Amino acid sequence: MITLGIESSCDETAAAILENGTRILSSIVASQIEVHSPYGGVVPELASRKHIEAIAPVVDEAIQSAGIRAPMLDGVAVTQGPGLVGSLLVGFSFAKAFAYAMDIPWIGVNHLEGHINSVFLTRTPPAFPFIALLASGGHTAIYHVTSHTTSTLMGQTRDDAAGEAFDKVSKMLDLGYPGGKIISDMARKGDPKKIFFKRAYLDKNKFDFSFSGLKTGVRRYIEKNLRHLNREVPDIAAGFQASVVDVLSFKLFAAAEKMDCRHVAVVGGVAANSSLRKKIETTAKRKGMTVHIPPLSLCGDNAAMIAAAGYHHLVQGQTSHLDSDVYSRIKS
Ligand code: KG4
Ligand code: ZN
Repeated sequence: MITLGIESSCDETAAAILENGTRILSSIVASQIEVHSPYGGVVPELASRKHIEAIAPVVDEAIQSAGIRAPMLDGVAVTQGPGLVGSLLVGFSFAKAFAYAMDIPWIGVNHLEGHINSVFLTRTPPAFPFIALLASGGHTAIYHVTSHTTSTLMGQTRDDAAGEAFDKVSKMLDLGYPGGKIISDMARKGDPKKIFFKRAYLDKNKFDFSFSGLKTGVRRYIEKNLRHLNREVPDIAAGFQASVVDVLSFKLFAAAEKMDCRHVAVVGGVAANSSLRKKIETTAKRKGMTVHIPPLSLCGDNAAMIAAAGYHHLVQGQTSHLDSDVYSRIKS
């Protein structure tokens, strides 16, 4: 079965072709970073317009570089939510029209389920059940994953997402956008032990997160130390990153222990963070657990993960209908 995946929930227009839900024939990601970086964050109206410009050429490129022709496609999977409504609508409407014209089934996919399924695009996918830490710019949550299409939310952030905290701290330090990669590169030059920022473990038996206190802690430190700030930037970045990494890692392993689970996964944009990857890999090794983290190209938003998740719905005969709509938030 050959599936076309489409993703447009935020500031990446992406399309991918997948064979049998696991083999990536092509994965194209058109980033809008340059459009949004002067504003220090994603501007929804600009994002929608850029998606409109990019969607057809990106899908075309995915089909071409997979070495297939459109009539060879068996189904389409597209992000339905959560995300920016205007952005989502572009990919979603395109997918609907494309599937209708080609007369093939299509399915709307939850973006977070897509991130979780990114681990199945690696050579050593996890066995079920496993615990997944999803850390991105919009979400930070822990799931007990029981199949490709079923999982239970164990806890999530009460305020900022982990990636959002990286972005905000980068902005405070005038380092630019998006902040994840910038802060992690800067942290490499600093000492994580020099400046201590409190770890927000909250209730150690629960799996909720909070990063707004840490953000305030960094802001206060910056305000108090303005005079030596330039010298201290790498240590601030390293201290901040260590606080986030410690909490994410602690909660992931606590959840695994609670559920008596030997397999852990980390997905989402923040999974690209090398310090987080290292900490989770060494801790898992010490505890005799298997750890699954996708390659960098599959951590950030991409359409291969959407096709991977959608594939499992399509093979179960689940499809979406022309009257279905996008959603900005998960209904609770
Ligand atoms: O999954 P993603 O591409 O989009 C969302 O669904 O949100 O995640 C983007 C987030 C951004 O906040 C970005 O700063 C963060 O992931 N990020 C990182 C790194 N690379 C990207 N955070 C920490 N370290 C990184 N290396
Ligand atoms: Zn995402």
